[in-house]
Amino acid sequence: MITLGVIGTGYWGPNLVRNFINQPNATVSAISDLSRDRLQHMSSLYPHLKTTQDYRELIDDPGIDAIVIATPVRAHFKLAKEALEAGKHVFLEKPLTDSSEDSLALVNLAKQNNLVGMVGHTFLYSPSVLKIKELLDAGDLGDIHYVSTTRVNLGLFQDDINVVWDLAPHDISIFNLLLNSVPEKVHAVGHSYIQPDIEDVGFLTFSYPGGRLAHIHVSWLDPNKIRKTTLVGSKKMLVYDDCSNLEKIRVYDKGVDVHRHYDTFGEFQLAYRFGDIHIPKLQDGEPLKAETAHFLECITDNVECRSSFAHGHQVVKALETACESIRCGGREIAIDYKLDQ
Ligand SMILES: NC(=O)c1ccc[n+]([C@@H]2O[C@H](COP(=O)([O-])OP(=O)(O)OC[C@H]3O[C@@H](n4cnc5c(N)ncnc54)[C@H](O)[C@@H]3O)[C@@H](O)[C@H]2O)c1
Repeated sequence: MITLGVIGTGYWGPNLVRNFINQPNATVSAISDLSRDRLQHMSSLYPHLKTTQDYRELIDDPGIDAIVIATPVRAHFKLAKEALEAGKHVFLEKPLTDSSEDSLALVNLAKQNNLVGMVGHTFLYSPSVLKIKELLDAGDLGDIHYVSTTRVNLGLFQDDINVVWDLAPHDISIFNLLLNSVPEKVHAVGHSYIQPDIEDVGFLTFSYPGGRLAHIHVSWLDPNKIRKTTLVGSKKMLVYDDCSNLEKIRVYDKGVDVHRHYDTFGEFQLAYRFGDIHIPKLQDGEPLKAETAHFLECITDNVECRSSFAHGHQVVKALETACESIRCGGREIAIDYKLDQ
């Protein structure tokens, strides 16, 4: 049985509390939030929980094995560092931290203390993303040429991070998993239309090894909620619409075949292929249930963590470099990963 303490029970934390409580091999014994109202609300749902406004009571509690952190990003580093130094495993919401210096420090601290450090990159546990990964690994789409994603809606405006740090962690972590690599370069533009100096729209273009491009459009200033990703491969194309209830993934047998003719006037001819559309069946299941179960199995069975702090650090590095590119007017910048061995 793993005993957990959860710090931060605002919008997202209660989802983690519910999922950890429902795991057969875990129990949540205590929660901490700065807001009395939030603690009262959580007590009304789970009367057995110990509540406190001082997170140190959780970190100092010898009965707690692991700390779950779902506070705003600015508090992530300090809380995770203190928890790791106290010998607790840590589950930390995305993005890992707001600087790559801090995220690297957490990677090393978890490693040195032989503790599990996991980031809440929820989409790595989504049946849709895992199905796409299965299709890519089986070669169904052929070689991936490029991927493109739109993650936009109206709000929720944050006051400590821009839209890139808020929404793009999802897409970068998905692309790193699907493309089995990390981006090498990025150029990005963005703009702050509503809050001074906090970009509410961003257009990011990452270059992955092998000439694969990945474009991400994020915005808090859009009339529609859109969560749509397109993958274009040499054999087939795929559209993943996370807002669709029934047909989240569609695989299109569409493409362009190039026929080279050296004995005719044209150097080559293009043949467009319009084949069937396949809608794969997806497994049921809440990603958070799989994610929380994975954190526990990483602790109990020493399983390699799918969204480890090292993965989270790579995402932070990509986000940080994209924001540097925005500040430099869209200049292309190499992403420099320094992971201490
Ligand atoms: N994985 C996902 O899909 C997903 C979705 C939403 C949010 N998140 C992440 O979850 C985290 C929290 O986001 P949110 O929307 O719930 O924010 P929120 O502002 O609604 O809630 C954060 C809570 O943390 C509390 N808090 C802050 N500092 C604290 C401290 N030192 N001790 C105790 N409590 C403290 C606040 O009082 C607040 O209630 C962020 O990192 C965000 O990126 C992840």
